[in-house]
Amino acid sequence: MNSYTQELKNTARAMVAEGKGILAMDESNGTCNRRFEKLGIATTVENRRAYRELILTTPNLSNYISGAILYDETIRQSTQEGVPFVKVMTDAGMIPGIKVDTGAKDLAGHPGEKVTEGLDGLRDRIAEYYEMGARFAKWRAVITIGDGIPSYGCLEANAHALARYAALCQEGGLVPIVEPEVLIDGDHTIERCYEVTEKTLHEVFRQLYVQNVAYDQMILKPSMVISGASCPVQAKVEEVATATMGCLLNTVPPAVPGIAFLSGGQSKERASAHLNAMNVMFKAQSPWRITFSYARAIQQPALEYWRGNPSNVAEAQKLLLHRAMCNSAASQGAYNTDMEKQPALV
Ligand code: 13P
Repeated sequence: MNSYTQELKNTARAMVAEGKGILAMDESNGTCNRRFEKLGIATTVENRRAYRELILTTPNLSNYISGAILYDETIRQSTQEGVPFVKVMTDAGMIPGIKVDTGAKDLAGHPGEKVTEGLDGLRDRIAEYYEMGARFAKWRAVITIGDGIPSYGCLEANAHALARYAALCQEGGLVPIVEPEVLIDGDHTIERCYEVTEKTLHEVFRQLYVQNVAYDQMILKPSMVISGASCPVQAKVEEVATATMGCLLNTVPPAVPGIAFLSGGQSKERASAHLNAMNVMFKAQSPWRITFSYARAIQQPALEYWRGNPSNVAEAQKLLLHRAMCNSAASQGAYNTDMEKQPALV
């Protein structure tokens, strides 16, 4: 219990309110620039700002989006007219969130594996972000499936860091999004993905418990249990839904208010279909809201249409809103492929 307890519970529930999900737009400058470069968009501070303005000023976005995860550069930026992004969001009824990890680095002694950094000075950064208006945070751990990996050393180091981060967030008034991402890269089967995801989640919740993290004041952001991207046999939508929900029901305490998936490189249609199937097949037995916290699976069509051209903003916003709408429907088990007809663009 601390003075933030009630606020944290309320924020966590609001983040996963019925029909809503969380928009991830917290790409580091490096990741954002790589996505810009692929489309021939100049990698300038102004273009990153303009793109984030496009996203956050999308009309009616808050019908489907409860909050958005920002990056350190973005939370300090404003619209062209000078309105701080945090104010744009709160005025629209969206909760500002902030990525606080400083990235996944090679884990010493563990070739091919990563550990996420960012704990040093985190208490002070959390205080600053809370002061700026952030009410939740995110930390992403990366688990790679390969020959003989992940090792226990990697799972333990990443889970420990996630738990230390989550405890600091709750102390400072931010709801922690705990994100252990088992990467889709590789030719592994869905069964192997299940095994690794289950081990990962067991270790994450063990470490959260050891660090006194309150389960009812956090959100879990896992990857889905899915076939590796280059596995010759790709599991069907219903198989992914069954394996993912089976794994979560076996590992995640019911006190957690919500699970908001990452898209992890799935196509936008698959990301919606998988989320929808989980809600159709498991809503009755799920103790948690099952929703989305996608980046690529929401943003990509808008980014591709915009391409840095100011005259494309309004149409790009329609594409963004469309994906938010599809995923909102999927979070209620009400999505179908007819919804994929793109909105009419002028
Ligand atoms: P994707 O949905 O593109 O995987 O991104 C989610 C995210 O926040 C990754 O950390």
